Amino acid sequence: MKLWGGRFTKEENQLVHNFNESLSFDRKFYRQDIQGSIAHVTMLAKQRIVSQADKEAIIQGLKGIQADLESGKLEFAREHEDIHSFVEANLTARIGDAGKRLHTGRSRNDQVALDMKLYCRDEIDEIDRLVKALLEELLKLMEEHIDTYMPGFTHLQKAQPVTLAHHLGAYFEMFSRDRSRLGDIRKRMNYCPLGSGALAGTTYPLDREYTAELLGFDGPTLNSMDSVSDRDYVIELLAALSTIAMHLSRFSEEIILWNSNEYGFVELDDAYSTGSSIMPQKKNPDIAELVRGKTGRVYGALMSILTVMKGIPLAYDKDMQEDKELTFDAIDTVKGSLALFTGMLSTITFCKNAMEKSARNGFTNATDAADYLVNHGVPFRDAHGIVGQLVLFCIDKGIALDDMTLEEFKAISPVFEKDIYDAISMETCVKKRTTIGAPGQEAMKKVIEIYRKQLEV
Ligand code: ARG
Repeated sequence: MKLWGGRFTKEENQLVHNFNESLSFDRKFYRQDIQGSIAHVTMLAKQRIVSQADKEAIIQGLKGIQADLESGKLEFAREHEDIHSFVEANLTARIGDAGKRLHTGRSRNDQVALDMKLYCRDEIDEIDRLVKALLEELLKLMEEHIDTYMPGFTHLQKAQPVTLAHHLGAYFEMFSRDRSRLGDIRKRMNYCPLGSGALAGTTYPLDREYTAELLGFDGPTLNSMDSVSDRDYVIELLAALSTIAMHLSRFSEEIILWNSNEYGFVELDDAYSTGSSIMPQKKNPDIAELVRGKTGRVYGALMSILTVMKGIPLAYDKDMQEDKELTFDAIDTVKGSLALFTGMLSTITFCKNAMEKSARNGFTNATDAADYLVNHGVPFRDAHGIVGQLVLFCIDKGIALDDMTLEEFKAISPVFEKDIYDAISMETCVKKRTTIGAPGQEAMKKVIEIYRKQLEV
């Protein structure tokens, strides 16, 4: 049954129906569709556009549809074009003519614009909750690992010693920005398109401020053409989801590296790893790999919607129906990735000894040896050269800087004294880095305090 059959003489061809329909996917926001309709009819009754009795019948009918869908009593019949037609047809079947009055002063264009916004807004809140749960897990680990030493890397080569708390703190920063991005989007999108009609508003005395308020928006949108054709917030949301996916992917890549035999920094819980069908010794980091891999489809969704929107003349065009499947998929993918990643992180074992051992080797204290010389009056460029000689010497002998005797130090530069050992110990290298943002415990504690407060809101 079509909502627009009146003007048409030929029956719709099945292939056309299949190509055109959206019920198979927009059924996902049946709740938001019903929520929007309840607000709309509440406003219509307040404005005396429909009677109080019709309003009550409509609201009851709509709630009945929702209850029956949720209990499985009612199914989404394929002959309906989209969720809007489905709900309206069902409503009319239940309550008769009153059901046909629901669509007064409304078009599917402003209806779908509203549904999609409500859906995205609900999902933003859900994703925010999941990112927050990840941040809480990260903060807990940071508190535990303020003294767990590990090498910091640049170019994937050992650079300077840091702590696990500091390394995890980098991800805390990334995911905090993700949260604030979601908050910005939510704020910007939070204006209600309902009442914009097909594109040019309506002639009914609608109270758009009232429906906006009923639905928790900050106000009505101010241009009806833009209202029915704006999908910027979908683009922004997919960009934010792409960034979350990218952050999760980088983190996953590190977990995969750390889990390798070569690093041995972590051990994954059995529940978050899988075996091989042929190689009995294997314990694979599948979850981390899948989170990394799924980033592709989230980026794909962003590219798709940007491309869909680029040539659409004002106002609504059917192209926009393409916004849904990819957005739903990206949202579900990111939600799944966040939940699984947090679960994996909360059950991971960090192999402190292996991390610390790795931090002690690989000349991660070379910069501090140079700083020692600078503190004793040697110009930095010369100090850099002297430490280069120390490193060459050690590589040749297969030892670390800390293993050199004082005579050996002195043979390369007489400036070195006994206190060099303390100056270049891994603990000192970290502890001395006390400026805010650095890995030193003193600085870390201050930052953790700030993060704690951030998570309270
Ligand atoms: N299923 C449609 C969509 O998602 C609903 C809006 C239909 N509007 C129209 N003028 N055909 O965009």
